[in-house]
Amino acid sequence: MAEIRLENVVKEFGGGEQAVKDISVTIKDGSFTILVGPSGCGKSTTLRMIAGLESQTSGNIWIDDKNVNNVPASKRDVAMVFQNYALYPTMTVRENIEFGLINRKVPKEERKKLIDEVVDIVDLRKHLDKKPDKLSGGQRQRVALARAMVKKPKLFILDEPLSNLDAKLRTQMRAELIQLHKRLGTTFVYVTHDQIEAMSMGTDIIIMDHGVVKQQGSPMEVYENPTNTFSASFIGTPPMNIIDRSNAVNVLQDINDTIQKVGIRPEHIHISTKPLNLAHCIELSATILSMETLGAETLYQVKTDMGVMNVRSFLTPLSNVEEYFISIPYEKLFAFDRNGDTIKAIVFDIKEEPVHVFN
Ligand SMILES: Nc1ncnc2c1ncn2[C@@H]1O[C@H](COP(=O)(O)OP(=O)(O)O)[C@@H](O)[C@H]1O
Ligand SMILES: [Mg+2]
Repeated sequence: MAEIRLENVVKEFGGGEQAVKDISVTIKDGSFTILVGPSGCGKSTTLRMIAGLESQTSGNIWIDDKNVNNVPASKRDVAMVFQNYALYPTMTVRENIEFGLINRKVPKEERKKLIDEVVDIVDLRKHLDKKPDKLSGGQRQRVALARAMVKKPKLFILDEPLSNLDAKLRTQMRAELIQLHKRLGTTFVYVTHDQIEAMSMGTDIIIMDHGVVKQQGSPMEVYENPTNTFSASFIGTPPMNIIDRSNAVNVLQDINDTIQKVGIRPEHIHISTKPLNLAHCIELSATILSMETLGAETLYQVKTDMGVMNVRSFLTPLSNVEEYFISIPYEKLFAFDRNGDTIKAIVFDIKEEPVHVFN
């Protein structure tokens, strides 16, 4: 069990550029916390500082109530799993799992017991005597997990562990990791650039960009209440439509001066071939630029008086006609100020009757 606390943590690699800029966050004990953000935003560096593989330039790191600034990686009781699982090719599965325990001088009987405990969890009992080249990608990743688990760490750190797996296996391993976390109850800190992984696996998400934390919260909090345009457009597929004031005023003529951008999620826009006349909505005429039929849902890209927008619909794909209509519920609109921060006390003058803006 472990709570991790970072206080004003900065990492500079030389050259004056800061990979991590003054981060202060708390990672809850027992949580499955995801560090997510685009490539190069400082996720791995943050993870490596928590693990003790990299020392911070300034700031403090605590694991539980112990300041670990000067504690080496080997003494932090952290187990790590990486994208490239680096198994020893000449060793069997059992030897790979056992290796770290031998290094730590765990007695033979104890090693046997520990391995016995983990192999069923990762479903490797049948494969214990195989070499890694006889295993599938998923099985290899499970060996890496088993190797981490036998150490019984108080913290698991995983850096893009599923990136090398194909899409189907990745989905399966996601589910396995969620179950593993439930079963162990240990704190997991998991790095990914994939927002779908972040949304589906985490109990908590920390969104990073350019070395800073943009938002922290549960997946639904971040989805429902993004605090800035970066979080708003990072979480969700397709991303939230962010409309510049110059386009928004075409339709929302009387919007407040502080609003510089307006956001609407693709799944909150209704699309139809006839006007829908929905109350508390803005209705616009639209032309379809592209349409992707995915089975259960259809993605449209449409051109409107408010600009080009993505629309996600769970209805039957629309037939091919000249004119389409989209309806945007006022209550689903987000407003952002000039810094891209969400303006909470909204502001839109909600019209009781539908507002039609047809050209
Ligand atoms: N060992 C290093 N030396 C110099 N620069 C580094 C080193 N490791 C990472 N960086 C730089 O720090 C920034 C953050 O990198 P990283 O933490 O690996 O990002 P992420 O994991 O989010 O993709 C990048 O600009 C990267 O080039
Ligand atoms: Mg990385």
